[in-house]
Amino acid sequence: AVLVVDFGAQYAQLIARRVREARVYSEIVPSTMPVAEMLAKNPKAIILSGGPSSVYEEGAPRLDRALFEAGVPVFGMCYGFQLMATALGGTVDNTGAREYGRTPLHVSKPGSTLFEGTPTEQPVWMSHGDACSAAPEGFAVTASTDVVPVAAFENDEKKLYGVQYHPEVMHSTHGQQILEHFLYRGAGIEPDWTTGNVIEEQIEAIRAQVGDRRAICGLSGGVDSAVAAALVQKAIGSQLTCVYVDHGLMRKGETEQVEKDFVAATGVQLKVVDAQDRFLAALAGVSDPEEKRKIIGREFIRVFEQAQAEIIAEAPNDQPVEFLVQGTLYPDVVESGGGAGTANIKSHHNVGGLPEDLEFQLIEPLRKLFKDEVRMVGQELGLPDEIVQRQPFPGPGLGIRIVGEVTKERLDLLRDADAIAREELTAAGLDRDIWQCPVVLLADVRSVGVQGDGRTYGHPIVLRPVSSEDAMTADWTRMPYDVLARISTRITNEVRDVNRVVLDVTSKPPGTIEWE
Ligand code: XMP
Repeated sequence: AVLVVDFGAQYAQLIARRVREARVYSEIVPSTMPVAEMLAKNPKAIILSGGPSSVYEEGAPRLDRALFEAGVPVFGMCYGFQLMATALGGTVDNTGAREYGRTPLHVSKPGSTLFEGTPTEQPVWMSHGDACSAAPEGFAVTASTDVVPVAAFENDEKKLYGVQYHPEVMHSTHGQQILEHFLYRGAGIEPDWTTGNVIEEQIEAIRAQVGDRRAICGLSGGVDSAVAAALVQKAIGSQLTCVYVDHGLMRKGETEQVEKDFVAATGVQLKVVDAQDRFLAALAGVSDPEEKRKIIGREFIRVFEQAQAEIIAEAPNDQPVEFLVQGTLYPDVVESGGGAGTANIKSHHNVGGLPEDLEFQLIEPLRKLFKDEVRMVGQELGLPDEIVQRQPFPGPGLGIRIVGEVTKERLDLLRDADAIAREELTAAGLDRDIWQCPVVLLADVRSVGVQGDGRTYGHPIVLRPVSSEDAMTADWTRMPYDVLARISTRITNEVRDVNRVVLDVTSKPPGTIEWE
């Protein structure tokens, strides 16, 4: 693997993804990992990420010089670049000359390993306070900016490279090319990693892990659990049973999609539990968002446990059910491994999620993958586009998209409005531009309208289209007015009791994507 050393901020994940886009496998390691441990992983190359610190700050992350002396190719970016410069005897000054954002880069050695074939003037994304004024001995300076004399350097002989900017962000227009130059030319790595390798590797690993025993998997209708289930099904066939809990908070057609399309595509054994009444009863009279989330989570686990007991009871003489399949993704793994005390903004609840006291061994075949890679695996496994390209949908479903108490009537109303919005977004070809578009019912709000010749006193529907890369931050999508107009007209015409459609124009932060 190529190791991406994480010096904080969010850059490391993006870099790891870019490396994989270059078809080279990458893994993130924390900067606190001892160099000997990094080297023990036999990395093909090491990338040092950017980070929020200054190399002069007290307590700023450091790096053992030994890293540069092991003969492993190293590429430092931003903070990683400065660490490399200082560790090897170059000069980094706290000049106070800051550069943030899009900056023109002047390439002085167009034939260098990193810059060959790229323009001598190129926009790059900068974000730094300190600046390198002298490269370490033996290094060639390959680029500068108006403010920074040494914005890139390389020592081809020792296979050490660095750039002051962030090649991983898309505003650095040649960033991917430069990263690939490092990987292919600098480090001499063959680009041969594909999601196909993952499938074969995982199938073998799962077979070895499970043997003759049995596994269950909670399906939520979402991409991750569907792909994880399909992969495990391919490995162990009928030893896997999937459980789908229909809590009545799904959107129109979703349950059918799991029951028909998913089963048709995978041949998986499916147990559908109709728990609509149970969830409605538990949610009756509740309008506090956190309370709703907790109730939905709790009921889900109970239903799931019951289903599990039934599966065992139905075939008691069969092999034991010892495994639980989870669609955990790489960002979840990285995030839960690193970083202390992130604020609990919402109690996220993964339907299909893990009841803590269930005694299972986990099978997590996607734990090395990013979302887009999971989609590729799903595609290769033959899952239909409607499942693989599905936008994110929260586990608690429409339960947290009704502001106010959740009732059957309100759910039906919201389902109708949501189906119209989805239909029009798909017809307009916007599905891939929009990260997701929650449709929210303000059940406790009424406003006056006029329809036909009469006064109405109905509820508003909120459209919340957002653009995002990872749902951690988001911006509201500037959607074409005519599409908004069609959605609004259709919802107010076709959905009873709705006389107003409003657009949410809040980014995240400060608003979260969901309303509850
Ligand atoms: P927020 O509202 O926190 O949402 O900005 C970020 C992303 O997470 C989804 N979401 C959830 N997904 N269980 C999930 O599986 C949950 O409880 C949950 N709550 C929010 C949300 O749809 C968005 O994509």
